[in-house]
Amino acid sequence: MVSTALLLASALSAASLIGSTLAATTEQWKSRSVYQVMTDRFARTDGSLTYPCNTTEGLYCGGTWRGTIDMLDYIQGMNFDAVMISPIMENIAGRVSYGEAYHGYWPLDLYNLNSHFGTKQDLLDLSDALHERGMYLLVDMVINNMAYITNGSNPATTIDYSVFTPFNNSDYFHKYCLITDWNNYTDAQTCQTGDDIVALPHLFTAHDDVQTLLEDWSKDIVATYGIDGLRIDAAKSVYPDFLPIYVDAVGGFMTGEVMDSRASIVCDYQTNYLPSLPNYPLYYSIITAFTEGNISVLLEEINEIKKLCPDPAAMAVFTENQDIIRFASADDDMAIAKNAVAFTILFDGVSMIYQGQEQHLKGSSTPTNREALWLAGYNTTSELYLLLKNLNAIRKHAYNLDNTYADQQSINIYQGGSELAFWKGTYGRQVIMVVNNQGVTGGAYDLILPQSYGAGAAVTEVLTCENYTVNDLSQLIVKMDAGLPRVFFPTAYMEGSGICGYNYSNVTYSELKLKNAGDSSSSSSLGATSTVAPSLLVSFLLSLMVGAFVGTA
Ligand SMILES: *[C@@H]1O[C@H](CO)[C@@H](O)[C@H](O)[C@H]1NC(C)=O
Ligand SMILES: *[C@@H]1O[C@H](CO)[C@@H](O)[C@H](O)[C@H]1NC(C)=O
Ligand SMILES: *[C@@H]1O[C@H](CO)[C@@H](O)[C@H](O)[C@H]1NC(C)=O
Ligand SMILES: *[C@@H]1O[C@H](CO)[C@@H](O)[C@H](O)[C@H]1NC(C)=O
Ligand SMILES: *[C@@H]1O[C@H](CO)[C@@H](O)[C@H](O)[C@H]1NC(C)=O
Ligand SMILES: *[C@@H]1O[C@H](CO)[C@@H](O)[C@H](O)[C@H]1NC(C)=O
Ligand SMILES: *[C@@H]1O[C@H](CO)[C@@H](O)[C@H](O)[C@H]1NC(C)=O
Ligand SMILES: *[C@@H]1O[C@H](CO)[C@@H](O)[C@H](O)[C@H]1NC(C)=O
Ligand SMILES: *[C@@H]1O[C@H](CO)[C@@H](O)[C@H](O)[C@H]1NC(C)=O
Repeated sequence: MVSTALLLASALSAASLIGSTLAATTEQWKSRSVYQVMTDRFARTDGSLTYPCNTTEGLYCGGTWRGTIDMLDYIQGMNFDAVMISPIMENIAGRVSYGEAYHGYWPLDLYNLNSHFGTKQDLLDLSDALHERGMYLLVDMVINNMAYITNGSNPATTIDYSVFTPFNNSDYFHKYCLITDWNNYTDAQTCQTGDDIVALPHLFTAHDDVQTLLEDWSKDIVATYGIDGLRIDAAKSVYPDFLPIYVDAVGGFMTGEVMDSRASIVCDYQTNYLPSLPNYPLYYSIITAFTEGNISVLLEEINEIKKLCPDPAAMAVFTENQDIIRFASADDDMAIAKNAVAFTILFDGVSMIYQGQEQHLKGSSTPTNREALWLAGYNTTSELYLLLKNLNAIRKHAYNLDNTYADQQSINIYQGGSELAFWKGTYGRQVIMVVNNQGVTGGAYDLILPQSYGAGAAVTEVLTCENYTVNDLSQLIVKMDAGLPRVFFPTAYMEGSGICGYNYSNVTYSELKLKNAGDSSSSSSLGATSTVAPSLLVSFLLSLMVGAFVGTA
């Protein structure tokens, strides 16, 4: 007879075993802010600040997982709570006219790691180091293709499929053809993404055997390395019906690359295939709004995304990555960069910042947007580094005080010729963000937000730490200057935020509310407890309606 204790013990260990292999859920990821590392270009094991790296040549420059571990203070110093790394599997060796597989997107053997980046122990240690800091690990996965150097020969006749692990036979692949029209999804899903120098043999992901091998491999990788979420490279080219099967089989958060400016397409992917996608429609409108002087484009796109995407809060918001122009190359104005970064961190979604963005690096396209960060010196007092630190802090704090924060959609409360203001979160402890596209030459003036917090509420502008008081009409008169963004939070709830002189702590909303009630004889300093102005009530109800609408769409 088996004792109850034994049964319980085995049930517990089974549960913990399952628990340890599970990636984090989409819900858990929504509050996270991700720092994207390109492993070869982030940090070297020797900590060198001078080791040369010529982006044009496209060769390995020596960044490693060990180097990344050593630089986690730099990342966490900006209050990021997740790190994304380059694909980890063994890539093809050899050099072509445009370089080597330093980026990790040229898979050869799925069952081996890329030894340029380190050993199995190094990757395990990186995962542990992140988890010890309460941070998540996001890994870039290539499930669309393998890679083969054809060096000018015709891929249709040159590729030796037997070299691939585990896909060692041409049956696992589509017949060779090159994508000619990226906007034709049939073309993009049956032909190859590479060229005749490095062919990228296209996996036949509609095939059961291919699916099973990819699922088993991915489950094993996720469990072995304690991975919390995946980016799916080239998801646009994968057989779409395989995507939800893969998501179910592997589990956890996944954001899949579908580079398309149309919300109709990208939101359709979120409806049918993937829990999250990098928000390319939003990205293109951010670029237009901030660098081409048309702020209304951004608001129109936001409304389109709200209408079409089932879950905007699960989309990944970014302004740079390894495939696109560095923001500073689109517009090198520092005030413009600050507005774009503020929007990226505080708008709805999982925010993602690409390494080097915090140093305002330039690079107009691949490969010049992949500089070795060590050559930029990891400056922890650069303007954007300090800005990111504050933005991530208020984002995290707002979430700590309100666990519905991540899921609440931003509400547009102001639109000017060059400004947009948004409110995100529960009334009384919401974040208000004012962004603009004026640039550093923008003048000093007052901007009146007709809806903000309660009349008489004390609020803090968290980027300057300046205190404001909401007027008797519940208007917040924002002092604009030099094109800078403004971000507000109620002063009474700043404790625990880690900014403007307040220490970071795990304080809860109810603790602070109690404390505030005890501190003030009258409720006049607290927006949340003062009389709600009619206009505010309207927008609050509106926010509920928007939430309800999205919830049932
Ligand atoms: C980088 O490599 C390219 C191609 O070999 C070369 O033309 C260029 O001068 C190099 N740049 C530097 C800074 O060494
Ligand atoms: C590719 O061809 C170039 C010359 O065209 C040669 O220098 C290089 O070694 C070749 N690379 C490989 C991997 O065969
Ligand atoms: C492919 O790999 C399988 C499993 O390792 C092996 O049994 C088979 O012989 C290989 N086929 C070729 C053509 O190398
Ligand atoms: C799209 O691509 C497929 C496959 O390459 C081709 O058969 C089809 O004609 C293309 N459709 C359009 C509208 O061009
Ligand atoms: C800005 O973009 C909107 C939406 O695309 C367009 O209607 C408007 O004409 C543009 N404004 C300017 C000044 O270009
Ligand atoms: C870091 O950036 C700040 C602000 O731009 C600058 O004043 C400082 O000199 C930089 N430090 C280094 C070591 O480059
Ligand atoms: C803002 O108000 C808080 C709370 O009253 C106070 O502690 C803080 O010193 C004020 N900050 C500034 C810059 O005046
Ligand atoms: C913040 O923490 C430090 C060190 O623990 C402490 O000395 C200081 O009094 C704290 N400040 C506030 C405002 O709580
Ligand atoms: C904050 O609270 C959470 C959950 O209660 C806990 O996991 C975490 O370790 C705490 N962090 C700190 C810094 O106390």
